[in-house]
Amino acid sequence: MRIVALYGTESGRAEAVAKGIAEAFPDRAIEVVDMADADTGIFEPGALYLISCATHGGGELPGFAQFLHDDLRELHPDLTAVTYAMFGLGDSSYAEKYNRGSTQFDELLASLGATRIGPFGQHDEISGKDHVALGVEWAREVLAAAGT
Ligand SMILES: Cc1cc2nc3c(=O)[nH]c(=O)nc-3n(C[C@H](O)[C@H](O)[C@H](O)COP(=O)(O)O)c2cc1C
Repeated sequence: MRIVALYGTESGRAEAVAKGIAEAFPDRAIEVVDMADADTGIFEPGALYLISCATHGGGELPGFAQFLHDDLRELHPDLTAVTYAMFGLGDSSYAEKYNRGSTQFDELLASLGATRIGPFGQHDEISGKDHVALGVEWAREVLAAAGT
């Protein structure tokens, strides 16, 4: 199964999570892709996307994640054969805007027919927890849920 660790970042934490996941499961040959380098064609039938996505600007997606989000919304591809899991990076001091970037992306993928599996992972910056370690644990649960 093709597995892609797709990330949307401003300051590098989501990228570190995606790279940490690829390094933690070398036998899965996980591809690491920046949303800055992706277009809507990144989503292929039968593949699994481990998406790590930050929130910035008070509930907004990171800049390049916003571009990909907008292209998906405009082109409206059929993603019914796509499976993904979501890991949001945020800061709960932003209250109701906490992790809104990842939830926006999640809502859009679901509206296009994609299926989310495993837990909705979260890293809260004020928790002081290691975002990479948390992301790797989340990926482990997702891969188990996917049966890979
Ligand atoms: C200017 C700015 C705005 C932010 N806005 C939010 C927000 O609205 N909601 C949230 O949950 N986190 C917010 N955050 C926290 C980031 O999402 C968090 O630091 C995250 O780990 C950054 O991930 P990245 O390094 O991959 O960009 C904000 C951070 C900054 C610097």
